[in-house]
Amino acid sequence: MIKKGIILAGGLGTRMSPLTKAVNKQLLPMYDKPLIFYPLSVLMLAGIRNILIIVNKGQLNQFKKILPEKNNFGVNLYYKEQLKPRGLPDAFILGEKFIGKDNVALILGDNFFYGQSLSQSLKKNTKFKNGAKIYLHQVKNPQLYGVAILKNRKVVKIVEKPKKNLSNLAVTGLYFFDKNVVSLSKELQISKRKELEITDLLNKYIKKNKLKVDFIGRGGTWLDTGNIQDYYNATNYISAIENRQGLKI
Ligand code: G1P
Repeated sequence: MIKKGIILAGGLGTRMSPLTKAVNKQLLPMYDKPLIFYPLSVLMLAGIRNILIIVNKGQLNQFKKILPEKNNFGVNLYYKEQLKPRGLPDAFILGEKFIGKDNVALILGDNFFYGQSLSQSLKKNTKFKNGAKIYLHQVKNPQLYGVAILKNRKVVKIVEKPKKNLSNLAVTGLYFFDKNVVSLSKELQISKRKELEITDLLNKYIKKNKLKVDFIGRGGTWLDTGNIQDYYNATNYISAIENRQGLKI
């Protein structure tokens, strides 16, 4: 059972500038809540109550005003500043102390997951001891994501933002790892785009035959909010559902 999670909420949000110049993207409104509430709620649905939020240097106070460390929806929140964005696996290097000898979940601060039986699926997928688990989702524009190449429902390789059409199954921004993730992240080399790549990390698990996948099928929703159009699509989606049901996502 995974009991700890990290929300990576750094990043410069350059594709949404100037909206993101003074305020971090993850604190902007996603319909009626700050964007970060959605990935936070996904970790909570997974039963995770100890959460480290990684933020940009200088933005700690912005976050703490919205999500103070104590008395917060029954979760324990911890913060760590990142000097500059260095790629997703940097979360595990920065979070080394927080992770200790436990397994850990990572979710990207701008990812949105929604769907019937999501919480059952999360609970099922966080019950493992060794290896790593990811969710895949079919998308129209796989070239924007890490994609998974499958043989007999088994992932044989993950490729980051492929130019050719290798697969339409994107790797979503929610990952579950065993405790080896810290040492494996430290072994990674900086990529051409000058980052540590989550794809390289996942391929290490594949080589050891330790990566499992689950699917967010067509009845489930995974949205990311990288550019302004995606951002407003997600806002409209939330508004449509909340106004129909009278329930909050
Ligand atoms: C990152 C990962 C990519 C993954 C995506 C999910 O992309 O590198 O593999 O599919 O998150 O949102 P980036 O945010 O760096 O474009």
